[in-house]
This record gives sequence, C-alpha cells and structure tokens, in this order.
Amino acid sequence: MTLRSAEWFEGRDELGLQSRSVLRTLGWTQEFFDGKPVIAIANSWSELNNCNLGLKAVAEAVKRGVIAAGGIPLEFNTISLGEELMKPSAMLYRNLLAMEIEETLRAYPIDGVVLLTGCDKTTPAQLMGAASANLPAIQVCAGPKRAGCWKGRELGSGTDLWRYLDDYRTGVISDQDWQEIEENYSCSIGTCNTMGTASTMTILSEALGMMLPGTATIPATDTRRLVAAELSGRRAVQLVRKDVKPSQVMTRQAFENALRVYMAIGGSTNAVIHLIAIAGRLRVPLTVDDFDAFARTTPTLLNLQPTGTRLLSDFDTAGSTPALMHELRDLLHLNCLTVAGKTIGESLNTISYIDPAVIRPRRDPLYPSGALAVLHGNLAPNGAILRTTTASEKLQKHCGAAIVFEDYGDMLVRIDDPDLPVTADSVLVLRNAGAVGVPGLPEWGSIPIPKKLLLQGVRDIVRISDSRMSGTSSGTVVLHVSPEAAVGGLLALVKDGDLIELDVEERRISLLVPEDELDRRRAQWRPPVPVHLRGYPRLYAEHVLQPDEGCDFDFLRPRSDEELAFVPP
Ligand code: FES
Ligand code: MG
Repeated sequence: MTLRSAEWFEGRDELGLQSRSVLRTLGWTQEFFDGKPVIAIANSWSELNNCNLGLKAVAEAVKRGVIAAGGIPLEFNTISLGEELMKPSAMLYRNLLAMEIEETLRAYPIDGVVLLTGCDKTTPAQLMGAASANLPAIQVCAGPKRAGCWKGRELGSGTDLWRYLDDYRTGVISDQDWQEIEENYSCSIGTCNTMGTASTMTILSEALGMMLPGTATIPATDTRRLVAAELSGRRAVQLVRKDVKPSQVMTRQAFENALRVYMAIGGSTNAVIHLIAIAGRLRVPLTVDDFDAFARTTPTLLNLQPTGTRLLSDFDTAGSTPALMHELRDLLHLNCLTVAGKTIGESLNTISYIDPAVIRPRRDPLYPSGALAVLHGNLAPNGAILRTTTASEKLQKHCGAAIVFEDYGDMLVRIDDPDLPVTADSVLVLRNAGAVGVPGLPEWGSIPIPKKLLLQGVRDIVRISDSRMSGTSSGTVVLHVSPEAAVGGLLALVKDGDLIELDVEERRISLLVPEDELDRRRAQWRPPVPVHLRGYPRLYAEHVLQPDEGCDFDFLRPRSDEELAFVPP
C-alpha cells in the first residue's frame, strides 16, 4: 500500500530531502524510518491537568509498541482539558481540541494516530477530530485514580465531595474534617474514580470499538496500563496496514452498542452531548430520542457511584467493560468491528469471570431501565435530560412554584439567603448557563440545595437549567434544556412563582403559564448582551449548536455527504 506519509518522505526533490532531514534531526537513520508508517501520538499530558499526568509514561509504552510493530512514532502535545482548573468549563474548549486534532492529522505526514486521553472532554474531542480526519486511530486512556480514604471510608471523586460539602455547609462536619478530606481526596494521578464523564466516555470509546477491550478502567498506576499502551501502539501500525478508518468502526450499530453500555453503566449525562457530537462528525444519525428509547429497554447493571456504591477499581477487577457487555450480549450488535482487529462478539468469547456484586446479572439489575430520561414539553421542545437513577423517586412526578436565578452569579449570591422564599416543593430555575449564554455550558446545573432546606433535612429538590452537571453528581436535576434561554428558549420567560410540572414517567417538563401571557413576555424579552467581544469564546458563542445537536460548531458538522467526504486539497 502507498502510505500517506510517502508524499512527504519519498520524493527525491528538495521537499523529500527536507522532510527526511526532520527525521534525521531526531537522531534516526534512514534505514530506521524508510518506508514505515508514521504513527502520531496525540498526547494531552499537562501539569495543568492532574487527571492526565500519567500519559507521559503511557506515551513511552505506545512508542515501544509502534517501533516493535514496524512503525515510527511521532508524539505531539495538544491542549489539555482539565476539568478541575479550567474556567468557566473545559467544555468551552472541547471543540477547540477537536479542531486541533483534526488539523494536525491533516497538516502533517501522519498515517495513523494513537490518541492519549484522560479527563472528561478529551475523549470526545479526540474522537470528533479523528472522525473528521478519518485516519486510522486508536484511543488509550490515563485510567482512574486510586481512592483516598477518610475515617476508614473510601472517597469517591466528586460524589463524596458534593455530599460532604452539604455536611460542611450545615456544620455536620468541622473545619478540621474538611481539611482532612482535602488532604486525602486525591491520592494518585488519574481520572475520577466514580462514573463521572471521564470514565463514562472512555468506557463508551471501548464500546464503540475505538479502545482495546478491557483497557478503559485499568487504574492509572497499574502496570497493565503500560502493557495496554504498548499493545495499542502495535495495533495502530496494523490499523494503518489494513487501512481501518474511524468511519468503519464508529457506525450506527457501534453507537447503538455504546448506548446499551451507557445505560447499563449508569453513565454521566454529559455523554448524551458528546456521543451526538461524535456521531454528527460522521453523519451517523443519533438523536436525543434514541437515548430515551435505549434507556427504556436497557437495565442498569453496574453498581458504581453515584448510581450505586462501588468505585472504578471494583469494576476493573469485576471484569470491566467486556464482562458488562457479555451480560448485555443479546442486546448488542456482535458483528461490529473494533480496533483490536476482532468483532465485539469475538472479543466477548473469552470472558470467564464476572463479579455479580459489581456487575449485576440481567435477572437482578440495579434498576430495570437505563440511566436517563429525555424530557420534552413547552420548556424544552428540543429535549432536556434527567439522570433518573440518581433522582429522588418522589420528585419524579412533581409540580412546584419556580424560583428563578437569572444567571450563575445571581444564584451564588442568593442561594443561602435566609429570605429566599424556597420550600422543599419549589422548583429552582437557573438560566443563561448554556452553550451560548456563558458561553461554554459549564457544570452548574446541580444547583446547591439552599442551606435553610439542608438544615430542615432536605437533600434534594427539583432543579432545572440550560446547563450541564458533573457525571459524579446526583439529584432531581433537569439539564441541557434546549433551546437555551440565551437564544430565546422558554426558560428565558419563566418568572418567580410560575408553576412548573415535571413528569418523568410521561417524559414531560412543562411551564404552566397561559400562552397569551407567554406571548406578552416574549414580546418584552431581549437577548443577553454578549460578554465576549473577540477571540475564541466569541467564535464559540456564534457557532455552537444546541445540546440536542451535540454542541459542536455548525461549520464542523458536515451537512451533506459531499461535505463529509470533502478532503481539503
Ligand atoms: Fe478530570 Fe474527573 S476531573 S477526570
Ligand atoms: Mg467531570
């Protein structure tokens, strides 16, 4: 086969000389690199992002694998999307990373790529970019971190933090306790050890066929992670030799497999946006209503925080994703191809152990249905998401009076005000917190329970926003209201005291205000003045699509088969 990189390296002209001299600069002989496929390693390692810190060692192991299989590895660094330090949200930069991956693959002499991922948005961004470049690609992740311990109890990333925060705000735990939790909260490199977005997305990458089976949950500090990395480097060379492209792996059937796994693991709500964005790059049809349909027909099997009680290291030793997929076997498309060079069905044939305390058997699921519900109604004509498995049963059919926060700052100022007229029956509304409104759709949706309710023992009330929430969070929280307030969605017109009705069984979210009154309010509504006058955030706000279209940029999502097939000259 003719390698793409040959266009750079084989010519006898001055461009060929110059290109080969780049490789000689790395200290390589022509014999070492001549005629071999170039495997790029896209590394999201950064000291700004503790979740991805292990990827330096992972990259070295990938290189070993590439060289052993007869390729030449060339590592490049990308921006690093660290959920914990980036403001207002790493989500603002997901599309930027996707563009960086796509354009780097296109501009350089690259035949295939190993994508090194970790923290939340990295995984979808890399898959979006690789899908658009459509060069052979395989993903390897940093792996989840070891759990710290406080007072004899393991600390679940995020999930325990939110819980102890409420205890701290109400004086149940002391300053000294809070300090001790801080000292034990993050005890190793790696991604969140609960079913946050990072693990949801790496498990779904594996289910899609883009990561080697069984590798998504290997802990960050486990040496099997380096073995997986070496194997992935080897596989990258084979993918180039066999010309296996992301578009052949990430088919509609592969997305259906990912949806099954997503529901069974009780995955993060953020995956709805990310999967739609990835599918959109390949013109694979995938809508929010697909998610609802798969949720209704897939049981939740995984006993993992925040839906269940265990942590990712337990899932890993219980058999991990392949064991879970084995349990779901009859619901999967077993003929889907994976980057391992086998079909899903072939890789499930070797499963010999499943721990039923962690991966529940089909006859005894954690929940009979999947992770979420997609709601519609006048408040969210294009859909809103609720993670049903972490929402209070009694609030899933509820009608209450709205308390409206104009934006995140307004919410922070007033949420603990003793005069806030909030009761356990209220519905908290946060608006102007969406993709265009902020911009960047931060994880502000799990509005804290007002202190005065916490002191009454209330731990959950209905909350609605055009924002997202962390996959490690729980509660009766309606998210991704589409269209968002900043583009004129009905959320913009809600007033204090309006009745809002939530009916999860019926999949409805409704604002009970007469149409003529809404018309009056609509006539007076003015869109918020954009905050950003220039730069990337302005580009983002001008081009980002709503959550039901994956929050990709309008110009990155191909609108026709011709646009999909277009390769820049
Ligand atoms: Fe990076 Fe959770 S904050 S994985
Ligand atoms: Mg997260």
